[in-house]
Amino acid sequence: MLVVCQNQEINEALGAINRAAFYQGRTLTAAVRVSADQPSIADDPEIASAFYGAPTVITLFAPKGHFYGDADCAVVAENMLLAAHSLGLGACLIGRAGEAMASELGQKLQKEWGVAEDYEARYHVVLGYVDGELPKPKPRREGRVKRVS
Ligand SMILES: Cc1cc2nc3c(=O)[nH]c(=O)nc-3n(C[C@H](O)[C@H](O)[C@H](O)COP(=O)(O)O)c2cc1C
Repeated sequence: MLVVCQNQEINEALGAINRAAFYQGRTLTAAVRVSADQPSIADDPEIASAFYGAPTVITLFAPKGHFYGDADCAVVAENMLLAAHSLGLGACLIGRAGEAMASELGQKLQKEWGVAEDYEARYHVVLGYVDGELPKPKPRREGRVKRVS
């Protein structure tokens, strides 16, 4: 189940809750950093929303406790990221959807959106138009693929 939300007020509020969930019990160390080229909330504590002000936020739900729910949502999300890129859109996979949608606001929205109570959020995908240059691809790490016989 996917819910596409383009309500700026809701996306900002939920993005702030998601960001707070990221910082809960976590300090910014080199291990969590993602990109100096295109800083994420793991790189820059000044970023107020985990959704980066994107105009479209898609929340992906799976049946509660479903064994493959996380993987199912992740592959759906990856397909959306690839499609978005091919269309010239910017997109990012966002974690902590479970925590964000478990908040008071999240629970209220889940009801309003008509998503059954026995479904839980696993990921968000944010979409928007890229502002500036696309970041350069990161160098590939050597030795990550092994061919065996
Ligand atoms: C499960 C998962 C959750 C992620 N959550 C976030 C997130 O909350 N915020 C974010 O900016 N990027 C998030 N990302 C994207 C990563 O930060 C990173 O951009 C992506 O994995 C590509 O990595 P690379 O640029 O090192 O190849 C997530 C990626 C995965 C696989």
